[in-house]
Amino acid sequence: MIPVADELKGRDFTRVADWSRDELLQALDLADELKRLQAAREPHTLLPGRTLGMIFQKPSTRTRVSFEVGIYQLGGIGLYLSAGDLQLGRGETVKDTARVLSRYLDAIMIRTFAQGDVEELAEHADIPVINGLTDSSHPCQALADVMTIRERFGRLEGVRVAYLGDGNNVCASLMVACTRLGMSFVAATPKGYEPPPEVVALAREDGEVELTSEPHAAAEGADVLYTDVWTSMGQEEERARRLTDLAGYGIDAELVSAAAPEAIVLHCLPAHYGEEISEDVVYGPQSAVWDEAENRLHAQKALMALTIR
Ligand code: CP
Ligand code: NVA
Repeated sequence: MIPVADELKGRDFTRVADWSRDELLQALDLADELKRLQAAREPHTLLPGRTLGMIFQKPSTRTRVSFEVGIYQLGGIGLYLSAGDLQLGRGETVKDTARVLSRYLDAIMIRTFAQGDVEELAEHADIPVINGLTDSSHPCQALADVMTIRERFGRLEGVRVAYLGDGNNVCASLMVACTRLGMSFVAATPKGYEPPPEVVALAREDGEVELTSEPHAAAEGADVLYTDVWTSMGQEEERARRLTDLAGYGIDAELVSAAAPEAIVLHCLPAHYGEEISEDVVYGPQSAVWDEAENRLHAQKALMALTIR
């Protein structure tokens, strides 16, 4: 069995910012190795008999399937817990839920609205808590994204990432991951859709972050073009206004031609074609979105193998 260091055992992954550059690189290296082993159908049951509880308060395709398949491939089992079916949905506290689940499970993955609920769960659980998306962050996505970037370019240092559209949860986690790993980041958003200033300040402690309202200026010479939906889960009532405000910030073939010749296009998915991205770009030669989606599996397996005791 491949050796896995135990220094990260017991650690939570609720925000990218809590992991150092070296710790993130450790996860990326293991993810690459686990991807290779899976492709070769070589067993890598690093977590035999362990159970991952997966609490979902929002829908999911990638996160749910990649975590469930991932823990299974590592020799454990995943338990899908719809938040509405738990007593949590009827008012049982996050603290009590954390204490009880810690007695049954070996780790918890949670997708919910408030980042504070994830932090509270992590504070009171004795087992690792992994954030599977909140309104303000999506750290597992960012890990798979940087894995994909390194896989395509063979390096992270000096890569220029341009994010276009809504400065949302995906943008925030990606920005912190990029600067921590030596990349430069530019976000092109309309006024009122900028990433939160505290996240920008945090990312700027590690590297260069540019903010602009000009999509073309951001795309010019970029190595990576990234976008995400304009209406995130929970914002459905704002959809009409968002469509108007964000018009002009979508990625299409013309914008891709402004980027570096070898540039790749990423999108965390699900995509809304004709809004934040065109279908021909997602299915085009510069798209890396399918590898990016696959890499959720490998990156999260690495996270679990590193943190679960
Ligand atoms: N990218 C992502 O998190 O997808 P799901 O919402 O399908 O999990
Ligand atoms: N920003 C999106 C990401 C979906 C994976 C949302 O929060 O709905």
